[in-house]
Amino acid sequence: MKSILDNRPGLAQEVNRVAEVAGYLWQKGWAERNGGNITVNVTGFVDDAIRRMPPISEARAIGATLPHLKGCYFYCKGTNKRMRDLARRPMENGSVIRILDDCAGYVIIADNPVAPTSELPSHLGVHNYLIGSGSPFKAAVHTHPIELIAMTHSPKFLEKDVATRVLWSMIPETKAFCPRGLGIIPYELPGSVQLGNATIRELEEYDVVMWEKHGVFAVDCDAMQAFDQIDVLNKSALIYIAAKSMGFEPDGMSDEQMQEMTAAFNLPK
Ligand code: 13P
Ligand code: ZN
Repeated sequence: MKSILDNRPGLAQEVNRVAEVAGYLWQKGWAERNGGNITVNVTGFVDDAIRRMPPISEARAIGATLPHLKGCYFYCKGTNKRMRDLARRPMENGSVIRILDDCAGYVIIADNPVAPTSELPSHLGVHNYLIGSGSPFKAAVHTHPIELIAMTHSPKFLEKDVATRVLWSMIPETKAFCPRGLGIIPYELPGSVQLGNATIRELEEYDVVMWEKHGVFAVDCDAMQAFDQIDVLNKSALIYIAAKSMGFEPDGMSDEQMQEMTAAFNLPK
């Protein structure tokens, strides 16, 4: 079967990277059933032939008007599709969409009419924000990492920067690779525009955003780097939980050690 990826190595590499990440999410146990979603802004790989491709779906509303998305194209995981299936067959479990000129709707253009993720309002809202703020970030990953989600079931970790400080103090690399930390969003309905708007607000301040009792949302230049951010944070959560299950509260790195790290790696305070 013909695919939009044929003879387009740049686009194929980007989509295959999503597939590789999808496999890791499944292996991690973070992607039960259809859990999680990935979108990538692939506009940079779009040629005239793609621009002329006829839609293979009716026009659908995004639920918001997103002016920076004019002329943009996205690869999106399909709603109700499994990460473990996407890992092997990304164009059967996801699709490429074209944003319509009104910036309020989209059509699917390839390869199959796979309806995009139910979290599209959050993903597209975030991509609109990233473009508007001149960010080089092109990928957004939402997943359900067990230990990080478990922490949100305790009210103390929902207070501003409490979880971030605990996670940073478990191992030096966490602050080095996630220097702006983890923002927390109080519970919102999955797929809602409110959840999308709250996500954008938190990404102004933090590298990764936690959706209380649901999952995390990360952005970066590509899907692998967004995955890395979540992986680093969840590693810290695992260390915290390992210490707790050995029966003690972990000491964490001292304030002095954190300050030394922050200065040595030239990190934001
Ligand atoms: P989708 O299958 O629609 O992508 O939803 C999965 C999910 O994790 C919702 O938050
Ligand atoms: Zn989810």
